Amino acid sequence: MTSDLFSPISVGKLELPNRVVMAPLTRNRAGEGNVPTDLNVEYYRQRASAALIITEATQVAAEGVGYPATPGIHTPEQVAGWRKVTDAVHAAGGHIFCQLWFCGRISHPSMLNGKLPVAPSAIRPEGEAMTYEGPQPFVTPKALSEKEIEHIIGEYGRAARLAREAGFDGVEVHAANGYLIDQFLRDGSNQRDDRWGGSLENRARFLTRVLDTVFEAWQPNEVGVRLSPENRFNSMSDSDPAKTFEYVAHQLSGLGLAYLHVLEGDMLSGERTLDYRHLRDVFGGIYMANCGYTLERAQAAIANGDADLVAFGQLYIANPDLVERFREGAPLNTPDPETFYGGDAHGYTDYPFLESETVSA
Ligand code: PHB
Repeated sequence: MTSDLFSPISVGKLELPNRVVMAPLTRNRAGEGNVPTDLNVEYYRQRASAALIITEATQVAAEGVGYPATPGIHTPEQVAGWRKVTDAVHAAGGHIFCQLWFCGRISHPSMLNGKLPVAPSAIRPEGEAMTYEGPQPFVTPKALSEKEIEHIIGEYGRAARLAREAGFDGVEVHAANGYLIDQFLRDGSNQRDDRWGGSLENRARFLTRVLDTVFEAWQPNEVGVRLSPENRFNSMSDSDPAKTFEYVAHQLSGLGLAYLHVLEGDMLSGERTLDYRHLRDVFGGIYMANCGYTLERAQAAIANGDADLVAFGQLYIANPDLVERFREGAPLNTPDPETFYGGDAHGYTDYPFLESETVSA
């Protein structure tokens, strides 16, 4: 039988009913102390028919923050807030992974008690940080000492343990989109000449050390990794992305991960030049594709073996019942970019379900 988007698949310990994943989506609606709220519980509960939900990026430590009102997984209150989310998703029959995040240079002193953001190298990204006082130009980050690198790796380990306490089914290590791990991977942001920079082996060391630590709390088949080889978002670049990410995919291939999640192409322009089928084949495990997929493209990718799972972002913002709508070929709600980041229930938990479901709910 050829697979399609609605055929089941085993991912690590999970038996997923279909291949439609809710992508991680920053929505800037966490409560006081960056604690998940009852509104966040409702948002995720509404989307529990996804095969798998990956939470919005969630900082592993206070100094990993980079945006207003993004949730953390480093305090008891945050763990308690996430526990309500995971309980609600599980009660509705869903599965949920926590995406572990450290922003690094994509932050601002105004969010770090006046301290400089940190990065592999003191290279200032182009653009503006999103702060509580509005957009402010990025600053030149402080290059991490080796001791500080070890400290942050420990923070990933603590967050991984707390994610287990919070009732998640697994964690996704966010190594994409210009945040700290990606800053180490790509040479546009990593110009270190110690064992954390230079060679591919050295640039990938931070990711592999983070994974080693995460594996103390989770089995490898409960851990996903997200990469974005050619995403220029957050001022990112690499001199040879095909080679860099072939190396990373090869490094990850032997670990027995739950999946590799790849944001294919450039997030903002949609431009896509790398051979992702090759990356998938090098990795060899479960491959989750993401970035601008429609139902038709997703079906084609699953059918021809280019992907095992497809993660949908904007479509999940607007369609809590995306699986059902896809299955029935029903019309989709249109996402409203005005309400993507911050605000209240409007544009968050008030997108309509299909009529039939509303009646039976
Ligand atoms: C964003 O806030 O726009 C954002 C956050 C995390 C990502 C990508 C984008 O990985």
